Amino acid sequence: MALSKAHLLSGSTPPLPPGPPYACAALHSWSDGGFWMPPGDARLADLHDGGPSPSAPLDNLEGLVRAWSDHPEWLDFLDPSAPNHADKMLERAVYAHHWQKYLPEAGRMLDLGGGCGRFAVWLLDQGLDVEVVDPDLRSLWRTLKHATGRAGRLDLHWTTGEHLPDLEPVDAVLAAEVLCYVEDPARVLENARRTLKPGGRLLCSVESRWGWASAPDAHPGTLDALLTDGLVHVPNDVWVRTFTEESLRELLADWTLEQLVPTHYIPSGPFAAVAGDLDLEGVLAYEERLRANPVTRPLNRAWMAVARKPV
Ligand SMILES: C[S@@+](CC[C@H](N)C(=O)[O-])C[C@H]1O[C@@H](n2cnc3c(N)ncnc32)[C@H](O)[C@@H]1O
Repeated sequence: MALSKAHLLSGSTPPLPPGPPYACAALHSWSDGGFWMPPGDARLADLHDGGPSPSAPLDNLEGLVRAWSDHPEWLDFLDPSAPNHADKMLERAVYAHHWQKYLPEAGRMLDLGGGCGRFAVWLLDQGLDVEVVDPDLRSLWRTLKHATGRAGRLDLHWTTGEHLPDLEPVDAVLAAEVLCYVEDPARVLENARRTLKPGGRLLCSVESRWGWASAPDAHPGTLDALLTDGLVHVPNDVWVRTFTEESLRELLADWTLEQLVPTHYIPSGPFAAVAGDLDLEGVLAYEERLRANPVTRPLNRAWMAVARKPV
């Protein structure tokens, strides 16, 4: 469901500005605190209240709900006081370096699995309109808070990629670090494709198998999964499908692939500790060298891809 069906959790619910989507400049009365809307995927309501997840891939959401209560400061990382704010912004700058040229100059985008709005605010600042979909309602609250007052227009949808809302076709879809957390990425991609205009682009990234295994936040006890099907499951906490170049190419086989870049060797990747503090220029220079070296090339933490929906 969308903001038009939402009500604030405390106080009276103010009217929305004309839309959807809604001008971020006019959303101030919505931006503090939480709101509720009927979930577009029926599995989400229980999870929001801390209930058990109905399937292993939704364990990520169970983990997220717990994390919002235990250490929210790490999750709301667009807040400049968050301990990981600088790292997350540096990561986004790496993505922007590779993706900026593929964005539409104007129009509407779907930010699928948008989280707390890291990419939504980047798109809004460029005057684009953004439809954010995420199964974690608390993340949507933060997206609204951080989007308020910016350029562009916004709508929020509390649902999953498996149950995408029926949207007017969008000019591009962004799914950063999302397809690796969904149960059936082919189905989610098919839904995204239906939502895209012909010739529209998908910009996506996924966790990569060997970089994930050697990254600072890899989970103990998951080596067996990495040596077999690459499906990492930490019950009630984390579920990740790690990708190889072949498995990502296979997933995107029906699309016209325009970019496939191994990335994140340094931000959140296996070389973070040895790289030390770097600015964007320093990170990009090292990433280039790590990609060029045949030993380090397969140790990327993530894959970044851009693909076009065939006309
Ligand atoms: C690693 S975060 C990435 C968030 C954001 N794209 C970013 O890069 O900052 C993964 C996001 O995927 C969302 N997610 C998990 N399962 C999903 C599903 N089935 N459909 C859509 N999004 C999902 C999570 O709620 C979370 O916000």
